Amino acid sequence: MLSTLRPVARAAVRQRPAQIQVKAQAIRIVNASTWAQVKEGPPDAILGITEAFKKDSFPEKINLGVGAYRDDKGKPYVLPSVRAAEQKIVSSALDKEYAGITGVPTFTKAAALLAYGPDSKPLEEDRIAITQSISGTGALRIGGEFLNRFYPGAKTIYIPTPSWANHKAVFNDSGLEVKQYKYYNKDTIGLDFDGMVADLKAAPSGSMILLHACAHNPTGIDPTPEQWRQLSDLVKEKGHYPFFDMAYQGFASGDTDKDAYPVRLFIEQGHGLVLAQSFAKNMGLYGERVGAFSIVCESPEEKKRVDSQIKILVRPLYSNPPVHGARIASEILNNPELNKQWLGEVKGMADRIIEMRALLKKNLQDLGSKHNWDHITNQIGMFAYTGLTPDQMDALAKEHSVYATKDGRISVAGITSGNVKRLAEAIYKVTG
Ligand SMILES: Cc1ncc(COP(=O)(O)O)c(C=O)c1O
Repeated sequence: MLSTLRPVARAAVRQRPAQIQVKAQAIRIVNASTWAQVKEGPPDAILGITEAFKKDSFPEKINLGVGAYRDDKGKPYVLPSVRAAEQKIVSSALDKEYAGITGVPTFTKAAALLAYGPDSKPLEEDRIAITQSISGTGALRIGGEFLNRFYPGAKTIYIPTPSWANHKAVFNDSGLEVKQYKYYNKDTIGLDFDGMVADLKAAPSGSMILLHACAHNPTGIDPTPEQWRQLSDLVKEKGHYPFFDMAYQGFASGDTDKDAYPVRLFIEQGHGLVLAQSFAKNMGLYGERVGAFSIVCESPEEKKRVDSQIKILVRPLYSNPPVHGARIASEILNNPELNKQWLGEVKGMADRIIEMRALLKKNLQDLGSKHNWDHITNQIGMFAYTGLTPDQMDALAKEHSVYATKDGRISVAGITSGNVKRLAEAIYKVTG
């Protein structure tokens, strides 16, 4: 019997029971998975919506969850200027060498110019440190990491309530503590400016404050130019430090200069600040991951020091960023003809969104809805905060195959002239 066993097993059988027990235990430990203690986390809220949408077999289903632009046929849109820039790049058969740690210089230079404007003093004085980033998320993450290492005050950043769902995670993972300030007033479905001011006043002096430069996500509600001026004064008075997230420059109003107003105002008012830029929305370069992170410094000498630390921070994260998308953006920003074409296309996207807002409101009014839907057209950018409750959003999905997040946010980019009537009917039915 023993001879039919493998030599190792034969040896084990010959051992005394106590020894066998110890060995068996060791084998059990080795066999238990290293990841046995890992608990399943909650799915991403947006991905959950996409899953539910995919499973729905109703042919007229509508997905208003995704934060990406769609054309009036509901299809993903590649900007013709992007296609043209890409053709140029491909036909010039460039090499695939590594970019420097801070990316493609022609891109970052042009990105800074787009954000800060041609009359920007810090740009003219060469005191803006900038690095290419993995789109807006990567820019926020580099910013979070930099602030965690070097911000001289408390490592606490205040974000609006509500804010883009990823802000908290990005800053927490960067080692910052995240607190919130009031932003949205659910009674007016508008800005709670007084609450915002009160919270920013109550925050300890020298706090870091995250501000959405334009097209606030998820509410679509931005401060007015006058309110921005008041905020600039308040931030200065309190010695707070602004972190601008500009993920939608041009996409909000159709005008890249107008959308950059708060950033340029704060600079004009003498603030130091950091800025995260994304080219996902305004160039439709979602999957190419093109963005930039910049720090406005006091002097070129300070910029040099800051720049060196950005490089030290980026190097172990991903070494250097991908070149293809940055080359496309660089071509569009630096080639005057393509730039003009792009600005027209950005305006085209913004205008279609503005038109869909108006159409949705009109359809709701035509149906005889007694609710006030002015907020749909007062808000700006990709998202509308409808004011619908989680139960109403549930009913929209279950009874009308209209999918969006439970907080009542809908992506206006998912509305088309073909589905707006059915959408309005669905909203009308669930809101009574
Ligand atoms: C406010 C805000 N910031 C940053 C981002 C980052 O986007 P991305 O990493 O795709 O550029 C988004 C995307 O939806 C956003 O809405």
